[in-house]
Amino acid sequence: MDANESELRPQAVSGKLRLRAVVTFLLVLIFVSCVLSPLTNAATPITFDEKQRLWVLQSGEATYAFGVNERGELQHLYWGKRIGAQDLTKAHSLPEWASFDLSTTTTPQEYPGWGAGLYVEPALKATFANGNRDVVLYYVDQKLEANNLEITLKDEISALFVHLHYRVYPDSGILERSAQIENRTSEEVTLESAQSASWTLPRDGSYRLHYLTGRWAGEWQLQTETLQIGKRVIESRRGSTGNEANPWFAIDETDKTDETHGPVWFGQLGWSGSWRFTIERTSDQYRVTGGFNPFDFGYRLSPGESLQTPPFYAGFTDGGLGEASRILHRYQLEQILPGSPHPRIRPVLYNSWEATEFSVDEAGQMALAEKAARLGVERFVVDDGWFGERNNDHAGLGDWYVNSRKFPRGLKSLIDRVHQLGMDFGLWVEPEMVNPDSDLYRRHPDWVMNFRGRPRTEGRNQLVLNLARDDVKEYIFSGLDRLVTENDIGLLKWDYNRNWSEPGWPEAPFADQKKIWVRYVQNLYDIIDRLRSKHPRLEIEGCSGGGARVDLGMLRRVDQVWPSDNTDALDRLTIQYGFTQAYSPHVMMAWVTDVPNGINDRVTPLRFRFLVAMTGSLGVGGNLNKWSDDEIAVASKMISFYKQIRATVQDGNLVRLVSPIESEFSAIQYVSQDSQQVVVFAFLHSQQFGRSVPLLYLQGLPEDAMYSVTTIDNRSEEHTGKLSGAYLMHHGIQLRLGGDYDATAMKLDRVQ
Ligand code: GLA
Repeated sequence: MDANESELRPQAVSGKLRLRAVVTFLLVLIFVSCVLSPLTNAATPITFDEKQRLWVLQSGEATYAFGVNERGELQHLYWGKRIGAQDLTKAHSLPEWASFDLSTTTTPQEYPGWGAGLYVEPALKATFANGNRDVVLYYVDQKLEANNLEITLKDEISALFVHLHYRVYPDSGILERSAQIENRTSEEVTLESAQSASWTLPRDGSYRLHYLTGRWAGEWQLQTETLQIGKRVIESRRGSTGNEANPWFAIDETDKTDETHGPVWFGQLGWSGSWRFTIERTSDQYRVTGGFNPFDFGYRLSPGESLQTPPFYAGFTDGGLGEASRILHRYQLEQILPGSPHPRIRPVLYNSWEATEFSVDEAGQMALAEKAARLGVERFVVDDGWFGERNNDHAGLGDWYVNSRKFPRGLKSLIDRVHQLGMDFGLWVEPEMVNPDSDLYRRHPDWVMNFRGRPRTEGRNQLVLNLARDDVKEYIFSGLDRLVTENDIGLLKWDYNRNWSEPGWPEAPFADQKKIWVRYVQNLYDIIDRLRSKHPRLEIEGCSGGGARVDLGMLRRVDQVWPSDNTDALDRLTIQYGFTQAYSPHVMMAWVTDVPNGINDRVTPLRFRFLVAMTGSLGVGGNLNKWSDDEIAVASKMISFYKQIRATVQDGNLVRLVSPIESEFSAIQYVSQDSQQVVVFAFLHSQQFGRSVPLLYLQGLPEDAMYSVTTIDNRSEEHTGKLSGAYLMHHGIQLRLGGDYDATAMKLDRVQ
């Protein structure tokens, strides 16, 4: 052996030892993480105990668990406050109740097919080519990767498969579920109900259901009722999300939960078409089943085809209804909105609709733009009326070219002027609709949804284009693409002003015509997704005559939404109170418009109108040509104050201090994400008997923090000293509000 070799050998030996140590360490690590940790580590988002065939999903404050029972069904086990995986044991079916409620119906399944003896709401109902209508789903296998779990179920006889997707968002408390139904048989299967998920609540509660209803100009009304035995259905059969009800629910415990405390189970669907939630209480179960609306549903799956349901997001908190809303807001900001986890702060917007309606032209819009820029507005939006022969709502929809009488030089000179004034430019479109009085309809009367030979019902003098057709989809995409390519447009306000009627698709094979309910929405999403990826700077405002199409499917694709055509500031207090139960103030556009307001003829002071709008994403929609110098001065001050607080309002934590539904006095608090700023708004509808408003107690502040307080008045910002967190929460603040429609806002900046 030469010297070099002997010098090398000890190193080689120690290298081998090191290798062995590393391998041993890795083996221990693998053992701990694969074998021990699923049983012991509560921080792991999803654990699978193979022996017990048990899954435990941990997210935020919540634990969700299910397992395979002795029959092979996927059985729900637990949804509530966090417990450890080791606290749960193998699923075992529940006994029947006499010979009437068989065990198949008393046992809560994660995703029940309609078959065997099932009387609760099924998640899946199908008809097979051979006449069979019985679906009984049994567990086949699972795939677990980090926060994603896929469980495969199969019908006991046929090769109809269901893939259940679970995704855990570990910090948020949110769990996302959806189902993919796959036909591996050799014949057609028609799905008559395909739900995204069934959620089971603990069986021994006394529950209240909260949900949102409304209609045009009166959206987002919060309803609360005790859950009685039976089924409570909230739904849309309108083709889109609708404003009659919104796909959001919160269920709490009657005697335990309020705004700040107690258990709440809540959920939201990510779908912009017809949907349904069945909230069901039987003698021994509470369940919420939701997904595609089964009404007039019929989705034919050829062999090898599958259908993906929309995502259904749900969560649990023990922190009351306020915390349930905050969890959803944060989740939308971090996971759903374009630009998440840091969606762009909303610019202050001007919109011409209430000022000029259809009478838009270059000179008039330029005059408004000059004035808007002086106020501090950052985005100027031209609403309806700029295209085709659109002089009222009887004509023009479908003809997306610039009206050359109103804009002889095209839109370019207006857009250039808007840019020179330091604002970006927005434009209104309603791409899914057509007026019979339009060039498009004259060319393609077959492009609207219709039943052959039957009348086509108009709403606002318009018909709905059948986006399920790929040629219609391509036409809409290329028209919008051209519009955005030829003009420097920062925002499209995407409107949708009626519900469906005669939802026929005569060109499709008879057995596929009902797919219109699904295909339309998929194609709508496809248009928006392609447009956004081709024009990455483009933003979109979702609008449907106000708030008739707000849901998490849309919010994945639009940066902001228009909650209501009702801009009366007093009505807006309750509309926005309802809206923010479910959706973040970041997306909630709110304009300051003129008085008397067109909806109620109500006159409210400009400060009141501004402060109500400043609790969301601020816009101005009044006719600035008519505003006095005094009003312009108030508006400028308010907008500059808003810019100091908007990050807190849009992206902070919202705390509902006093509800506008319960009293004539209401108040809201926002805390910035970094806890450095707190903003408080308070509103008084009408003072009576000279009574002063009650002391206002803030919530959730560090006791020893000191805040410098600034109050906004009509003209000035007044520094009113320093206050501690303890004082603000325990002593409370006496606001000087009096008379009718008074309002105030305070900015509290943390100084220590
Ligand atoms: C709908 C919208 C309004 C406005 C008009 C224009 O009603 O909600 O904001 O854009 O259409 O026609």
